[in-house]
Amino acid sequence: QKITLDIGMIEKGGYPHFMIKEIFDQPRVLRDCMRGRVNKEVKEILLSAVIDHKDKLLNAKRFILTACGTSWHAALIGKQMLESIAKIPVEVEYASEFRYRDPVITDQDVVFAISQSGETADTLAAIELAKSRGAYIYGICNAIGSSISRASDTGTYIHVGPEIGVASTKAFTGQVAVLAMLTLCLAKEKGTITDERYKYLVDQLASVPDMIEKILKTSGGIEKIAPTFTYARNFIYLGRGFNYPVALEGALKLKEISYIHAEGYPAAEMKHGPIALVDEEMPVVFIAPHNSLYEKVLSNIQEVKARKGRILSIVSDGDKDVTAFSDYIIEVPHVDPIFEPLLTVVPLQLISYYIAVAKGREVDQPRNLAKSVTVE
Ligand code: G6P
Repeated sequence: QKITLDIGMIEKGGYPHFMIKEIFDQPRVLRDCMRGRVNKEVKEILLSAVIDHKDKLLNAKRFILTACGTSWHAALIGKQMLESIAKIPVEVEYASEFRYRDPVITDQDVVFAISQSGETADTLAAIELAKSRGAYIYGICNAIGSSISRASDTGTYIHVGPEIGVASTKAFTGQVAVLAMLTLCLAKEKGTITDERYKYLVDQLASVPDMIEKILKTSGGIEKIAPTFTYARNFIYLGRGFNYPVALEGALKLKEISYIHAEGYPAAEMKHGPIALVDEEMPVVFIAPHNSLYEKVLSNIQEVKARKGRILSIVSDGDKDVTAFSDYIIEVPHVDPIFEPLLTVVPLQLISYYIAVAKGREVDQPRNLAKSVTVE
């Protein structure tokens, strides 16, 4: 019997595209990212960079997180985690703006460069500038030995393995996982978290890969919904709190690979502009898991429903109220709100993938985009 070997398919682990392989890789690579760092038994997190550079990190007056693209969205989530749990003032900067803005930087600042490739020209230039003004540089990269990791004083690799698809997926969740570990380590050291809550959050973080596995099992349903949206020329993505950066990331994923225009917005800002766009043709994606902002998002959903928008909602398992107003829902497991982005982004990665496939797009190599932007 003759067996035909398709090298492309083998490289992709049997998946038709790298992007979908990388989406499905997430549970495994996030376990790799946390291995040796998160101890589920004793409920403790150890990051060598925090142990080795404790004084620098704990005495910093402020953190500046700089990045581009998807990595910038991870930075926005990192800011919310670090401020709410470790009580450290954090600023998030587009590297391309930061490097030319003549920003105030001192030797009391720690500047974090977040970059999958570790080669993005703007991010590299931003840390060179910060370094020249005395800041301490912390790299959060995926590519080992990359320029940004070499230019940093210390750092933490995300260890999610090579990412080939141009649209970033597993690197994003890896970056958020590292920022979560960093937050918990620093909060413990600073004493801004109770022992009980620390242990609970360590346990929740360690359970995230299993939860993502559960979401991935629903991919068949997401694949079925996707073709009903291929007609759309525009999408709006809305979320609040920790899910606002997820709305930005969901919109970016759709733009990158399906070429459908999409805007991400904080849900409550909808009334200051985007709601004018809503009609019966407009798909609106709500990220509405069951957290303290749930009722607020619910009322935003009702406003869109009243204007006949087509609503797709990401909800917590067993949700009733948002579900009642939505045309389609995708459920995610319950998790502490600070880790919600690690779950809610996954259905958005899948929906953009399946829409792009349904539209016959070049998913792994979208037009005009590069995996790493090493020139300005
Ligand atoms: C490019 C890629 C994006 C990525 C961004 C930043 O635009 O297409 O997927 O998020 O660069 O890349 P970095 O390697 O610095 O994370």
